[in-house]
Amino acid sequence: MGSHEEDQSAKLLKAQTHVWNHILSFINSMSLKCIVDLGIPDIIHNHGQPMSLSNLISSLPIHSSKTHFIHRLMRIMVHSGFFSQHNHTENELEVKYALTDSSLLLLKSNAMSVTPFLQAMLDPVLTTPWNQFANWFKNGNPTTFEMAQGKPFWEYAGSDPRINSLFNDAMASDAQLVTSVVIEKCKRVFMGLESLVDVGGGTGTMGKAIAKSFPQLECTVFDLPHVVSGLQGSENLKYVGGDMFEAIPPADAILLKWILHDWSDEDSVNILKKCKEALSRKGKEGKVIIIDMVVDKEMKDDESFETQLFFDMLMMVFFTGKERNKKEWVKLFSSAGFNNYKITPVVGLRSLIEIYP
Ligand SMILES: C[S@@+](CC[C@H](N)C(=O)[O-])C[C@H]1O[C@@H](n2cnc3c(N)ncnc32)[C@H](O)[C@@H]1O
Repeated sequence: MGSHEEDQSAKLLKAQTHVWNHILSFINSMSLKCIVDLGIPDIIHNHGQPMSLSNLISSLPIHSSKTHFIHRLMRIMVHSGFFSQHNHTENELEVKYALTDSSLLLLKSNAMSVTPFLQAMLDPVLTTPWNQFANWFKNGNPTTFEMAQGKPFWEYAGSDPRINSLFNDAMASDAQLVTSVVIEKCKRVFMGLESLVDVGGGTGTMGKAIAKSFPQLECTVFDLPHVVSGLQGSENLKYVGGDMFEAIPPADAILLKWILHDWSDEDSVNILKKCKEALSRKGKEGKVIIIDMVVDKEMKDDESFETQLFFDMLMMVFFTGKERNKKEWVKLFSSAGFNNYKITPVVGLRSLIEIYP
């Protein structure tokens, strides 16, 4: 074979690997779900030190005919960075596994656990719509989710208590992580405020943490009635059910965490205009605090940028929203009548954005 043909076949085989890798990428998600469903991160954590394969196997709730498959599941999860492998030996059963920073984030005991988000995103109700993605492009249906499940996402969540609590738990654990970062690194954002409404604040994880850290602040968690019904407030925290497209309770500041990315530009401008009305009813200048992604190819490593793109596709399939770059955000702010903004890229892939009327 000449060197030209060798080059051609090397290119062809590299392309085949790339395509196979993408076709089979769902195996990363499903293997991750499998180790979480089997409780492997928690079992290794509770062991208190690197755990041998034989110990792990005897602690797992599995059938005896399946024990010899576990090392293969662990091998792919070591490869993808969820466990580290110690004690390299010929005897496979003596190999030991330890948790990594990523699997620490899967522990049930970790209040910031990403496991509720995993369980929500990989639930069949949310994975089924992906099979309709291409069909959605060919008809007038607003979202792929609605096409597959018969109603828009928020309506579906309101009618299915299992999905409602799966989704609210996913949001709550994320809010725990974001709150700890924001309160540690951006205290100044909340200083001097007397009142704040967390619009679309879910079951109130972030609202509760803000109310606790800033006792002078009157905090309101505002969300759809099926989300906040039955929730009890405290001294400086209350829950209000309603629709942000109709009216938002007045406050010095409005928090929109992971809200605007769910909505089209037109809906987002309407939400921001409602925020502006709520601020003006307080009679002070006030501000809106947004926590969302600012898509930026230049600033991110490959994995970060790709993850931002994944979220953008999520917004396209489940909602009518999108992840926005800085130019798109600024256009939104000025269309809603906000003149100044400040972007602080402080929460990993997301930023804290303050906007002023
Ligand atoms: C992506 S979740 C974000 C929850 C929370 N802010 C967080 O980040 O943890 C969006 C929230 O918006 C709420 N929501 C959707 N439509 C709404 C509406 N019309 N009025 C008020 N809240 C709404 C949902 O119920 C949900 O809790």
